[in-house]
Amino acid sequence: MKKVFVTHELPGSEIHQLARRCDMHVWNQTEPVSASVLAEQLSGCQGLLCLITDQINRPLLDSLPELEFVSSMSVGVDHIDVAALTERGIPLGHTPGVLVDTTADAAFALLLSAARRIVEADQYVKQGNWRRENVWSPDFFTGKDVSGATLGIIGLGAIGQAVAKRATGFGMRVLGFNRSPREIAGVENVSLQQLLLRSDFVSLHVALTPETANLMNADRIASMKPGAVLVNTGRGGIVDEHALAAALRNGQLYAAGIDVFEKEPVEVDNPLLSLSNVVVAPHIGSATVLTRAKMADMAAQNIMAALSGQPMAHCVNPEVYN
Ligand code: DGY
Repeated sequence: MKKVFVTHELPGSEIHQLARRCDMHVWNQTEPVSASVLAEQLSGCQGLLCLITDQINRPLLDSLPELEFVSSMSVGVDHIDVAALTERGIPLGHTPGVLVDTTADAAFALLLSAARRIVEADQYVKQGNWRRENVWSPDFFTGKDVSGATLGIIGLGAIGQAVAKRATGFGMRVLGFNRSPREIAGVENVSLQQLLLRSDFVSLHVALTPETANLMNADRIASMKPGAVLVNTGRGGIVDEHALAAALRNGQLYAAGIDVFEKEPVEVDNPLLSLSNVVVAPHIGSATVLTRAKMADMAAQNIMAALSGQPMAHCVNPEVYN
């Protein structure tokens, strides 16, 4: 029987099927498996089912001559050296599609919360600050209108398109930028420069790759429309966090909604955390019970396909099957 290491206990039902088809070992501690323990656990394994918290880099892969297939319970695979896997003909499975609406909902939740100061208002009330003398006034907790505003979506893949659909429902005008322009109903294709100049809200939906790393650098942040809101549910490495914090502090930008950070967990002294006009979340874009079960099922199915000698249905590097 082939040996498969699973780096976390998983929801869903397919993991139980997988357990019957291989010699499966699951890391069942709450802390993510460390790099050195991961290397030990994977020694002699043919399969790996991992999460975004596991760094699957070339030195690790070089120490695992018996590895034959990898599946990540994620759509993003920036934690994995895909080129190193492909060179060895190792297929890499991932979980596209099933988290699209859930992640688009999260992006919209951050957009609305940042625009309407929901978290600030929540804390204000819970901390006992809402009193008779300030019960309501014309400028009390005023925010920024979403309806009638322009949303710029960077990255028009499935999640970007799902965000566009929501924006249209909220009466927003939608601009889009994609490396290779895509015709999407209701979305005006513009250059990145135009998008940043014209958008009241900007939402990021590109994968983290060498081309998109630091895409929202200090210059691009400075070129955003004054008073705009930035939402990031993509990956942290896409945004220069220090430049963003400076723009939020000096009032160039109105607010931000940030679910993903360059370093996760985010460091407590990250400048974004001390700003009241920033709504943050701990990388929960796809975090609903149902979606996480679907992602786990898809990840387990990718491994089961590999165990049966079939191509994975959702493979990042299908060229390994040629
Ligand atoms: C992914 O799947 O890449 C997400 O970031 C985790 O939900």
